[in-house]
Amino acid sequence: MTTEQALEPRIAGKVEDLRGAIRAALPGKVEVAIIAGSGLGGFARGVEASASVSYSDLPHVGAATVQGHSGTLVMGRAAGVPLVLLNGRRHIYEGIALDEATVLLRAVLLETGARIVIISNAAGGLNPTFDVADLMMLSDHINWMFRNPLIGPNKEDWGPRFPDASDVYSRRLRGLARDAAVEAGITLREGVYLAGHGPSYETRAEVRMLRTVIGADAVGMSTAPEALVAAHMGREVLGLSVITNLLTDPAITTHEEVMENSKKAEANFKKLLETLLPKLVKG
Ligand code: HPA
Repeated sequence: MTTEQALEPRIAGKVEDLRGAIRAALPGKVEVAIIAGSGLGGFARGVEASASVSYSDLPHVGAATVQGHSGTLVMGRAAGVPLVLLNGRRHIYEGIALDEATVLLRAVLLETGARIVIISNAAGGLNPTFDVADLMMLSDHINWMFRNPLIGPNKEDWGPRFPDASDVYSRRLRGLARDAAVEAGITLREGVYLAGHGPSYETRAEVRMLRTVIGADAVGMSTAPEALVAAHMGREVLGLSVITNLLTDPAITTHEEVMENSKKAEANFKKLLETLLPKLVKG
C-alpha cells in the first residue's frame, strides 16, 4: 500500500463505486437532498419521481432494515423543486460504523451537487411543553453517540480536517423554515436534539439527566452523523424531528407507538416541506 492510499478514508472507494451507480440510475443535478425518516412517508409518496433505485441494488449500502423505511433513492420533484430523496437510512444500532452509515449521503451529495440537505427523524420529547406529533426544528444537536463519522483519514477535497460545528443547522434555512411554518399555519417547535446510539430507548434516570443536566429537548438515534457529514462538505443543513413519544410520560415507549405517532404528523410535515421547498431554491 502506498502512503497516498493509506491516507484515504476507508470509505473513499465505496463512495466512488456509489457515485458510478447513482450516475447510471439517477443522472442529473439537484439543489436539495432530503433524508426521509419516520414521518416523511406522506411527503415521500407525493414526490413526482423521475427515477429511483432500491438501496439493495446499490453497492455498499445494504438494505434498510427497519420497519417503516422503504430503502429507496429517488430523483424527482416536489412543489416544483428538483430533489433527491434518501428514503430510509442506516443507523449506528445496526452495528455499523458512522462513516459506513453515511456513505450513501456522501456519494449523493458529491454526485448530485445538492447544496441543501434536509434531515428528518423521529424523536422522543424531553421538553415538557412538547406534544405527540409536534414538529421540532433542530436549533442544534448534541452528539451523544461518542463517535463521529469524520474519524479516520480526511479527504481535503470532501472537507476540512477540523470542520466548524457551531453552525451545523443553517441560520438561513431555519429562518426560511419558520416563515414556511407561519405561512402553512403549522406550529414549529425548536430545540436541541440529542443523538443517542440506541437501540434501547432511554431509562428514566437517563431521561432526567438528558433534560435537566444536558438540556436537550428531544432524543433520537440518527441525524447528527448525517448533519456532520453534510456540514463537512460545506452544505446547508436543516434538521426536523417528529415528536413521536413523550419521554416525560410515565408510560413506556414502544417502536409501534413511535411508528403510529409518526404517521399523525405526516400531513403537517408534507405541508411544511411543500411550502418551504420553493423558498429554499429562490434563496
Ligand atoms: N428515544 C430515542 N429515539 C427515539 C425515541 C426515543 O424516545 N423516539 C423515537 N426515536
